[in-house]
Amino acid sequence: MDRTHAEDLDRSDPLRHLRDRFELPDGLIYLDGNSLGALPRGVRSRVHAMIDDEWGRDLVASWNTHGWWDLPAAVGATLAPLVGAGPASVSVGDSTSVQLFKLLVAAARLRPGRRTIVTEPGNFPTDSYIVSSVARTLGLTVRWWSAEETPDIRDVLDDDVAVVSLCHVDYRLGRMHDGAGVTAAVHDAGALMLWDVCHSAGAVDVDLDGWDTDLAVGCGYKYLNGGPGAPAFAYVHPRWHDTLDQPIAGWHGHADPFALERDYRPATAALRVQAGSVSLLGVGALSAALEAFDGVAMADVRAKSLALTDLFLTLVEERLAAHGVAAEAPREHARRGSQVCLRLPEAYGFVQALIRRQVVGDFREPDLARFGFAPLYTRFVNVHDAVERMVTVLESGEHERPENTARAAVT
Ligand SMILES: Cc1ncc(COP(=O)(O)O)c(C=O)c1O
Repeated sequence: MDRTHAEDLDRSDPLRHLRDRFELPDGLIYLDGNSLGALPRGVRSRVHAMIDDEWGRDLVASWNTHGWWDLPAAVGATLAPLVGAGPASVSVGDSTSVQLFKLLVAAARLRPGRRTIVTEPGNFPTDSYIVSSVARTLGLTVRWWSAEETPDIRDVLDDDVAVVSLCHVDYRLGRMHDGAGVTAAVHDAGALMLWDVCHSAGAVDVDLDGWDTDLAVGCGYKYLNGGPGAPAFAYVHPRWHDTLDQPIAGWHGHADPFALERDYRPATAALRVQAGSVSLLGVGALSAALEAFDGVAMADVRAKSLALTDLFLTLVEERLAAHGVAAEAPREHARRGSQVCLRLPEAYGFVQALIRRQVVGDFREPDLARFGFAPLYTRFVNVHDAVERMVTVLESGEHERPENTARAAVT
């Protein structure tokens, strides 16, 4: 498969114009949007305006005149359709870890008497740490479910399970769960379903309402491009809009914060997940970043994500198999997120050597080189050229050179 084929795919790509909505350095092939999304063009001016015209000039009046108070809910409403949710069901604010803590405790409180949380050992670590901490806090037990060992989740569910907390797309191998199917199984067991959609929101057609999920969290800085440390979002299904009881009962989640009442009275819908003041410059940046999705159908985004990973998988087989490098990703579309890993013993040096050749991916322990394909700004020729540079690195042995194998703090 030659470069002309990739050029043809770019020419017929209905999303090809979206790359112009991003600032990307010339010549860089950026395949790490699943870690930190690229900079959307509108963010710079939005943050400058917030500093110059809002904070700098209008100061505290900005809470009213520039809509600061309502911004976390407004940005949640803008984000909601990207994850298949109604506008009131999503708000943005704390980090994913904190959102997860609040929603897990709330889920357990909705199932008093049930003493077990089910989750996966292959989670992104924060998910496992938070599940374990919530279990310690509430005196619950963690039951670990591995889809590889026990494919049907029903086999680990019973009437002691309060909540099941899973990552929709696995952060390492990109394997994707069946959102609707797993949620239905969990509901059959009388438990609540909480999805972490960090690795799917903005790249995969997530359908939280359609799956009938109870709760969800997702981060703002990956495929949603909200910038480093961008606020994460929380989703609450409408059936819990008036009953969810989350543990960090701060004044931003109060029904009438400026009544300054002694006792907590929660707001409705996703607003009741809010706790305290959030970083508004971050929320403003995320707000501008989401404009990159204006007029974009998530079905088209998903179709392109699959076409990009299909091309990568084919080229890896054609060009890298001879070097003993194979892709680790589900071949089945319904099970694949928007990333593909290559497994090789020198994965760290391989990633570093590629970065020197202007192809940015990342390394994940112990032997994975991970590449994310953000459909809004990744071109098919990028995929082709990245694989050619991988061939160059492997043939020259650059991945084994000391300058590439010395570890940095962030891998
Ligand atoms: C699946 C998943 N959940 C949570 C997080 C971390 O979220 P935060 O740093 O916003 O707490 C990550 C970070 O990469 C992640 O991949």
